[in-house]
Amino acid sequence: MKFLTCSLVLLLFASLAHSQEAALKATCRNVPGSPRYPSAAEWDALNVTLSGRLVTVVPSAKFCTTLPRGACTDDQWGSALFRSTIPGAMDQVNWEQGYDLSPPSLCLRNGTTCGQGDVPPYAVEAKTVADIQAAVKFSSAHNLRVAVKSSGHDFLGRSTAPSSLLIHTHKFQNISFVGSTMTVGSGVYAKTVYEQGKANRKIAVGAVAATVCLGGGWVQGAGHSALSPALGLGADNALEFEIVVASGELLKCSMLSVAEVPAAGGVIVSATFHVYPTFNATSGSIFLATENNTVLASLATLHAQHIFDWDSVNAGHYTTVIRNTSTNGSIFVLETYMPNTTASQSMALLAPFLNESLALPGVSLLLQNFTYGNINDALFQDDDSVGFNAVLGSRLIPAATYRDSPSAVGEVYKKLLESGVTEILGAMVAGGKVAENAHISSAVHPAWRTAKMYILTVGTWDDSASLAEIDQIRHLFQKAHLPIIEEITGPNAGAYSNEADVLEPNFQTTFFGPNYGKLSAIKSKYDPNDLFIVGAGVGSERWDEWGLCRV
Ligand SMILES: *[C@@H]1O[C@H](CO)[C@@H](O)[C@H](O)[C@H]1NC(C)=O
Ligand SMILES: *[C@@H]1O[C@H](CO)[C@@H](O)[C@H](O)[C@H]1NC(C)=O
Ligand SMILES: *[C@@H]1O[C@H](CO)[C@@H](O)[C@H](O)[C@H]1NC(C)=O
Ligand SMILES: *[C@@H]1O[C@H](CO)[C@@H](O)[C@H](O)[C@H]1NC(C)=O
Ligand SMILES: *[C@@H]1O[C@H](CO)[C@@H](O)[C@H](O)[C@H]1NC(C)=O
Ligand SMILES: *[C@@H]1O[C@H](CO)[C@@H](O)[C@H](O)[C@H]1NC(C)=O
Ligand SMILES: *[C@@H]1O[C@H](CO)[C@@H](O)[C@H](O)[C@H]1NC(C)=O
Ligand SMILES: *[C@@H]1O[C@H](CO)[C@@H](O)[C@H](O)[C@H]1NC(C)=O
Ligand SMILES: *[C@@H]1O[C@H](CO)[C@@H](O)[C@H](O)[C@H]1NC(C)=O
Ligand SMILES: *[C@@H]1O[C@H](CO)[C@@H](O)[C@H](O)[C@H]1NC(C)=O
Repeated sequence: MKFLTCSLVLLLFASLAHSQEAALKATCRNVPGSPRYPSAAEWDALNVTLSGRLVTVVPSAKFCTTLPRGACTDDQWGSALFRSTIPGAMDQVNWEQGYDLSPPSLCLRNGTTCGQGDVPPYAVEAKTVADIQAAVKFSSAHNLRVAVKSSGHDFLGRSTAPSSLLIHTHKFQNISFVGSTMTVGSGVYAKTVYEQGKANRKIAVGAVAATVCLGGGWVQGAGHSALSPALGLGADNALEFEIVVASGELLKCSMLSVAEVPAAGGVIVSATFHVYPTFNATSGSIFLATENNTVLASLATLHAQHIFDWDSVNAGHYTTVIRNTSTNGSIFVLETYMPNTTASQSMALLAPFLNESLALPGVSLLLQNFTYGNINDALFQDDDSVGFNAVLGSRLIPAATYRDSPSAVGEVYKKLLESGVTEILGAMVAGGKVAENAHISSAVHPAWRTAKMYILTVGTWDDSASLAEIDQIRHLFQKAHLPIIEEITGPNAGAYSNEADVLEPNFQTTFFGPNYGKLSAIKSKYDPNDLFIVGAGVGSERWDEWGLCRV
């Protein structure tokens, strides 16, 4: 494994004064009301340094009440693009809530009261590197909790934190293609990458979503893609980062293995990726209906038996199972991305699976749709549908499980559905190049290299749910789902850290595997005072749930 090889680009700030150093060793960070919390005059001075780009932040539900109509429309509320215009908004609104604060602090849509919850009181709408440096320096000097957000497309609530100073990188929208590389600012969305990629006749490995920022949290967590079996993980394709670290210095990190960046901690300014000449692909969707959990289990077994059928074209694919709670029938959706494959070739590759599926009693075809064209068009999404409450839990499933015991996979689906799960997602984004790239210097969890797919359960609730119900749903993955999934993975399978349960008790091994010790050492070098702490991230074992007090 290679270590950080960073060169100093710019040194703006001398080391911190002694008194500030003492503050940083304090047990707790300063929060509004603390004697050493910045005064109004100090915030104003920061705002002047930032040319007015310091803003006060409110939860998205409160923001809606400030609009001319006094409310957001349903379309606005559910649009990731719209939510990205609200500094305090997270895509999944549960992350804005302070369920565990004492007393709990919530701000619900159409609610009559509104608490700030886990939404930071202030944000820096950073536009320049100097803005980020000023925000980092101010946070260090005043012993504040820092949160960093690019888009808020975040399933672990890492882009927000109560009483913190939010550094928002949305304005970092530069994108350029040079030779076989692309450099993106940390606020550039996947949809922009595909639009610009098409114009430049290049394709970047990126998410199948509109507002995921490739140079933000996506790559820091390894970054999977429908193209990963063909071209590797995002982390495997990352070449360089510009990152503002805790000292306020802007570092340029060449050959930096990606998981080392979140380990070191910092605010990414830009990321440079390897990109490839564009090619055509077929994206396909197959929607199947199943009558009951037993039938769904048989279908999941068939899918597991056929999962290697599409390796010849290095396809990536996603599965969605949604159970209808009144009938227990489910919909099974298979979305495939097959590089350099025509629609008819793609259908031929899927025919054995589809034919056997339709031969199962209780399975019917709802619709199928295959589209051939530029890969950038296939991956492009215009917007993401968000605005609800959701927590996830996941595990990487070894390729050997699919090879040796596909019917056990079907059994796991059945047990999950019977235990009450209504939504099970799967991402076949490993194998192929992901397995071949095991040698690449990288702190990616080695479980990625032997996995075929990962399975994810989704827990959701309505705003009418009680705090006790919400608490139960938040803990269901560890209590009920994980023991079922471990029947096919064993106890140390590992998880994709960007789509997982932030409450993982052994997150060090679950998210980082054998790399954790080295990552911790990197962090103590670049972020000795733990300025950059996220839930279930490197060093977070030293902090409470909110990153506010050392434990
Ligand atoms: C920062 O300054 C701008 C204009 O100079 C102002 O609009 C904004 O409200 C100020 N922010 C805060 C938090 O006071
Ligand atoms: C909130 O009110 C809007 C209308 O302003 C309505 O469309 C929406 O369904 C309501 N949402 C909830 C969660 O009550
Ligand atoms: C974005 O590009 C412009 C023009 O090349 C440059 O002036 C600016 O510094 C860049 N911004 C960042 C944050 O890199
Ligand atoms: C569940 O099935 C019932 C009965 O077929 C149907 O009326 C209802 O719309 C379904 N619910 C969902 C969410 O699909
Ligand atoms: C659906 O499954 C649940 C739990 O397994 C069970 O309690 C319920 O009776 C089932 N409903 C139907 C319509 O079969
Ligand atoms: C697609 O085909 C082109 C031309 O043969 C080839 O260069 C490229 O590597 C292929 N891409 C993938 C992802 O298979
Ligand atoms: C699948 O079924 C279709 C229609 O029944 C048939 O034309 C095709 O040959 C079958 N394919 C395979 C691989 O069995
Ligand atoms: C599930 O549906 C299949 C197909 O209709 C049927 O044969 C089977 O008896 C059902 N099983 C249960 C447990 O309801
Ligand atoms: C098929 O997929 C294409 C591309 O995603 C989409 O534009 C089209 O509306 C879809 N057709 C149907 C019938 O769903
Ligand atoms: C890619 O697909 C587009 C749209 O179908 C088509 O016009 C073009 O000829 C295809 N290119 C190649 C190299 O097959």
